[in-house]
Amino acid sequence: MAYENIQVEKKDGVGIVTLHRPQALNALCAALVDEVGQAMRTFDADPEVGCIILTGSEKAFAAGADIKEMKDKSYQDVADEDFITDDWEVITTIRKPVIAAVSGYALGGGCEFAMMCDFIIAADTAKFGQPEIKLGTIPGAGGTQRLTRAVGKSLAMYLCLTGDMIDAETALRAGLVAKVVPADSLQEEAMKAAKTIAGLSQPVVRTCKESVNRAFETTLAEGMRFERRLFHSTFALDDRTEGMSAFAEKRKPNWKNR
Ligand code: CAA
Repeated sequence: MAYENIQVEKKDGVGIVTLHRPQALNALCAALVDEVGQAMRTFDADPEVGCIILTGSEKAFAAGADIKEMKDKSYQDVADEDFITDDWEVITTIRKPVIAAVSGYALGGGCEFAMMCDFIIAADTAKFGQPEIKLGTIPGAGGTQRLTRAVGKSLAMYLCLTGDMIDAETALRAGLVAKVVPADSLQEEAMKAAKTIAGLSQPVVRTCKESVNRAFETTLAEGMRFERRLFHSTFALDDRTEGMSAFAEKRKPNWKNR
């Protein structure tokens, strides 16, 4: 499939989606968002892919929704098309793990896109922010919601109300990102994590992702019950038997993905 705003690659069981609109710092125009959704769905359905990386350029993961594309929209336009539409949320429907590898700017919709992924690995050059307030609007794809759950009220309010950016180390301390690495090893580090995940039992990985995600949608008591049932369900898998037998026999497990 030929894409205009992204590049896709498949390597060692990992699907890589690279945002590629250098002339606009990867601003998320409708065509780009559509292509990301298509590429994600394709990798999700590909049995050779066990993990997906979403990344951008050295200068920008993505500088937000495309301001030039939306600047002339009226209230009627955005309400009628329900902008930001479900297209933006495709990443959250992907069942395989999705890693955001962020270098440079992750602003507005860029920060929101990264937060839709399962975890973020950041280059030490990464900058995160929700500058929508400076444009006379507010975040529309999770900046007031996912960000608040990720970093808590005070920092989320600060970022959304001032439009200021934070650096990678601050994002790490706040729990927004999982790991900070030198910029020149970002892709390597993201690949390392992705290959680790792709090399595990895929049904177990899928079950684990589903269980962690439940924590954001339910009470602790409900979540604990859900986790327990999913934990029990892994005992129906050949891979659970294999994983524990391999440990006891001091050998590497041979996953069958069933
Ligand atoms: N939309 C459209 N074009 C953008 C863009 C965006 N979000 N961000 C950057 N660009 C374009 C610039 O207009 C410029 O294009 P031209 O060369 O044609 O003028 C090109 O990308 C390079 O950008 P700059 O010259 O501005 O680069 P810089 O290094 O001086 O500054 C920056 C970098 C600080 C990221 C600056 O580009 C910037 O502030 N961008 C906008 C960030 C922003 O406000 N994002 C939020 C968007 S709204 C949103 O995302 C809503 C939501 O919740 C979904």
